[in-house]
Amino acid sequence: MSPFHLTRTLPEDATDAALRADVLHGLSTAPKTLPPKWFYDARGSDLFEKITELPEYYPTRAEREILIARAGEIAAATGARTLVELGSGSSEKTRHLLDALAGLHTYVPVDVSESALTQAGQALIAERPGLDVHALIADFTSGLTLPDTPGPRLVAFLGGTIGNLVPDERAAFLKSVRSLLAPGDALLLGTDLVKDESVLVRAYDDATGVTAEFNKNVLAVINRELGGDFDLDAFTHVAVWDAGNEWIEMRLRARGARTVKIPALGLTVDFAEGEEMRTEVSAKFREDGVRRELAAAGLDLTHWWTDAEGRYALSLSMPQ
Ligand code: AVJ
Repeated sequence: MSPFHLTRTLPEDATDAALRADVLHGLSTAPKTLPPKWFYDARGSDLFEKITELPEYYPTRAEREILIARAGEIAAATGARTLVELGSGSSEKTRHLLDALAGLHTYVPVDVSESALTQAGQALIAERPGLDVHALIADFTSGLTLPDTPGPRLVAFLGGTIGNLVPDERAAFLKSVRSLLAPGDALLLGTDLVKDESVLVRAYDDATGVTAEFNKNVLAVINRELGGDFDLDAFTHVAVWDAGNEWIEMRLRARGARTVKIPALGLTVDFAEGEEMRTEVSAKFREDGVRRELAAAGLDLTHWWTDAEGRYALSLSMPQ
């Protein structure tokens, strides 16, 4: 049997239907919002890669530091035979875990991007002849079914992406992850931490404007996919710290009053001068909050590791 399997649990046209529904809903409500998942076409994914290399954007480096330092402990604590990675993308950071997990039998990368899964999966099996790769094309925010692979399972959700979910969505997401876990399985979760406002704002509003381009890319996606006529230069990138919610909000602010047409939706949208549209929430966490949210989903936090500067955390939790 081939060590590479690809399973599609998303219909081919699911992405298109979801984009239409999200844009229609998000631009018809006040205040206007767009979900961050639509940043990531090929150009958006390239821009995000660039962001991870910016001096201001510390989360990727901080997480890598922890993974390198703690991979052995993670392997010892979990004894994982199957590693499931939600939102695996290029599987870059996973290599440290794969190297450390001595008894690993199967790697299950889960992503909405078939091309990312195929590329990363094929490269991995070439490097690691003993490893089964069972890639899953799926949206991990809505009901996953995992392939029947040997336990214990370790489910990893890295990068701080859980911060893109608001508290209600996080609660639902963590419960759905909990439902995938049997006794002895574990969740490895990456969370960016609350810190000085100026450090946070700089990480989301870098000096060279890469994050601004990334933010505006969602408009280019709508133009291409839905025939929209957004003028990207007519919007400014905004990153603000919401101290009450403890999250960074990215917004696009209309420089002047204007009307945008989105033919595929039969939609005409008016923007007032200075009107702001929310494009991303990136929540920042504290140990107590993470422990509480995990517990509410039926998970016991067993390990909490931060980078040397205390900017970012990886936690390990197991079914109660
Ligand atoms: C990939 C969702 C973790 O929230 O920090 C980077 C995305 N947005 N710069 C984040 C992002 C602006 C990133 N995540």
